[in-house]
Amino acid sequence: MQKARIAVLISGRGSNMAALLYAAKAADCPFEIVLVAADSPDAAGLRLAEGEGIPALGFPKPTGKDKSQFFEALDLQIRKSGADYIALAGFMRILPSSFVGGWEGRMLNIHPSLLPKYKGLDTHKRALEAGDSHAGCSVHIVTAELDDGPVLGQTPVAILPGDTEDALAARILIAEHQLYSRVLAEYVQRDSQPEAILAQVRERAMALPRAEETLSHGMPCFGIEKGKKFAYFTKDHHGDGITALIVKTTGEEEQAMLIEEDPDLYYRPAYFGPSGWIGIRLDGGATDWDHVRDRLETSWRLIAPRKLADVF
Ligand code: GRF
Repeated sequence: MQKARIAVLISGRGSNMAALLYAAKAADCPFEIVLVAADSPDAAGLRLAEGEGIPALGFPKPTGKDKSQFFEALDLQIRKSGADYIALAGFMRILPSSFVGGWEGRMLNIHPSLLPKYKGLDTHKRALEAGDSHAGCSVHIVTAELDDGPVLGQTPVAILPGDTEDALAARILIAEHQLYSRVLAEYVQRDSQPEAILAQVRERAMALPRAEETLSHGMPCFGIEKGKKFAYFTKDHHGDGITALIVKTTGEEEQAMLIEEDPDLYYRPAYFGPSGWIGIRLDGGATDWDHVRDRLETSWRLIAPRKLADVF
């Protein structure tokens, strides 16, 4: 199993980072930690990471002027580490949109509240003052707005009579440590599980005019109602281990050109190859879904009756 590589960003004690790091020690954990970076060389979590043999970097605290340089240097180091994803774990910096944009959909954060409640700081205090029955924690995708991206998982934590901020925070932290590794594991696997990949294909194929889904020889496929097929989804066909989309090209010339251009992405599929269809691998990890959408549309156009193609 190819494990997803994670860079963890911390500011302080790094207990969530430690929880991720120890979860990653399980042989079947789908992620590994390749870098721990902090916005100060004194962050306690860095010592723990070093002790566990994980590359650990403490950047000098950025001051007003050099904030953008700090994020450029951080981004460079993260990319050098080979990380596929970033996990923010108590990283107390507002992220510039340029940094967030470079990791769109590949940066997660843990926040000690049941989002969308209590974004920002003092979450435990605010939950206590509001008289809530439950506080909790959330893992979400990071977007340019603070603590605002889509929530991937949450754990409610009961507020007990006489709770103080510290007592509540300590219980929520236990929940955080459980939640983060579980959600991160699910998230990094979403692009490698055939069912999840098919769902992504389906969403795009079915958005085309008069598309319908059927099965052909056990393969989910997409066609135009009462018409021809424009795409086939193949998963481990005859044990080939490949998850891919098969779509039509203009012919064998285009097919050969595409394969030459990117032999890791394209291949000549068995049976379909001689008729100019192309296989697009969807199991390489970082699928470009806009490209898949374009290819589906091209294929749809190649088989659509004139009248239909003209109005679309
Ligand atoms: C956690 O409560 C986390 O939810 C919040 O900051 C705290 C970090 O704690 N974002 P730690 O450094 O992981 O121990």
